[in-house]
Amino acid sequence: MKFNIKSGNPGRQRGACVVVGVFEPNKLTEAAEALDKVAGGYIGGILRSGDMRGKAGSTLVLHNVPGTLCERVLLVGLGKEQEVNGKVYRDAVRAAFKALHETGAADATLFLTDVPVKECDTAWKVSQAAIVAMENIYRFDRLKSKAEGAKPHLRKVTLGTASGAKLAASEEALQQGLAIADGMNLAKDLGNLAPNICTPTYLAEQAASIAKAYKLKVTILDQKDMEKLGMGSLLAVARGSRQPAKLIALEYWGQAKKQKPVVLVGKGITFDTGGISLKPAAEMDEMKYDMCGAASVLGTITAIARMHLPVNVVGIIPTTENMPGGNATKPGDVVTSMSGQTIEILNTDAEGRLILCDALTYAERYEPDTVIDIATLTGACVIALGHVASGLLSTDDKLAEELLRASEQAADRAWRLPLWDDYQEQLKSNFADMANIGGRAAGTITAACFLARFTKKYRWAHLDIAGTAWKSGKEKGATGRPVPLLTRFLIGRTVTKAR
Ligand code: BES
Ligand code: MN
Ligand code: ZN
Repeated sequence: MKFNIKSGNPGRQRGACVVVGVFEPNKLTEAAEALDKVAGGYIGGILRSGDMRGKAGSTLVLHNVPGTLCERVLLVGLGKEQEVNGKVYRDAVRAAFKALHETGAADATLFLTDVPVKECDTAWKVSQAAIVAMENIYRFDRLKSKAEGAKPHLRKVTLGTASGAKLAASEEALQQGLAIADGMNLAKDLGNLAPNICTPTYLAEQAASIAKAYKLKVTILDQKDMEKLGMGSLLAVARGSRQPAKLIALEYWGQAKKQKPVVLVGKGITFDTGGISLKPAAEMDEMKYDMCGAASVLGTITAIARMHLPVNVVGIIPTTENMPGGNATKPGDVVTSMSGQTIEILNTDAEGRLILCDALTYAERYEPDTVIDIATLTGACVIALGHVASGLLSTDDKLAEELLRASEQAADRAWRLPLWDDYQEQLKSNFADMANIGGRAAGTITAACFLARFTKKYRWAHLDIAGTAWKSGKEKGATGRPVPLLTRFLIGRTVTKAR
């Protein structure tokens, strides 16, 4: 799908469809009014007829509206004028694209970015429109032998605005939105791929092909390299698997190398059976998504590379399957991590932290300014925050604030949970420096407490995306989160630096 931005009068647009908003009850937006003027009050009449009242998320397609030059007009309900916030706006754009796809229109001009939205500027509205539109056309059908249903007709989307004043800022916002959408699509594809295809080796190949496309440096460590580095914890998880484990490092240097990088560490368990602490069978297929942290790192790096963002970012991805087997790690096994700390593995299903801890130690070699790890780490996080917000845990208040602000801006919610030392007690082991589980209470926090023991040398935050990285049920699929949050966070860094 192609996007562009144009200033112009809604009433003068040619093409397959013009999209304008309507408030509840029965009030035209400025763009709708301009259209209604050339239409001689036809649209106002439709509202009075009661066929469209402006209810949030409602839509109505009109054909051959008198006086207009376009084939169709699509009216989109925005709800009450005073209540249009970011969520209402996004929902309205989503509804508009859903309706557009049900028509045969190959192009559309949307006049929605001029609508006043609480606490949101034009740039935000533009980039969100692009993201929502791209989300709407996303399909994952590459594993089906025949494509299902008709391909969407819509090819060209124009974001129209009445004023030409902010075109340059809007253009930049559009490019940002498209880059984020691109990154989300990559993250979704990797998440949705079957676990017999998306193996650690496959992830490494993907990283290599991103490196090639954007001229980045990639390093791929194999089992032997990791043995030499003493990554006993990561390798303990890999023992049960026939697929060789990898550690991927992808470097994006968008500014002078003396600027310390942000390191993103993504959990890359390409399938989590639980290992010897085997998971129950129901919905176990969903554990193919246990590499969504890794996918979000690759997606974010793709997005910032596409934008040529002036930041330094290193992505580190520890990746393996977690399988049972004759050689697999057993509950009670004690392993030595790369940091030298020993771990009693009491539950082989708490494997994410075991691969992350060695990757977090490996991150030290980049002398990072900040490290953020992203992981589908705990079922407890799904219980605590559901599928709405990712869990955010950090020992650094400023970093936590920065991430929360980015999450708000990106409409990719996160919520902070405490990381007090009081919880560390739960990780006590009789036989090693620590256990890898802390009991049922506060499972998300004790998992982060475990990671905190490996992150003393830099500013660090942890995102638990177990509830947000994919959707279950009828519309099962990866969401591409938290690519928007991470990308927004990195964009934010360039803005504050410039000031
Ligand atoms: N990958 C899972 C976490 C998970 C569970 C994500 C359900 C999404 C949905 C992780 O490796 C895991 O199994 N965690 C255990 C930890 C426990 C053994 C301490 C969990 O949450 O049950
Ligand atoms: Mn597990
Ligand atoms: Zn897992």
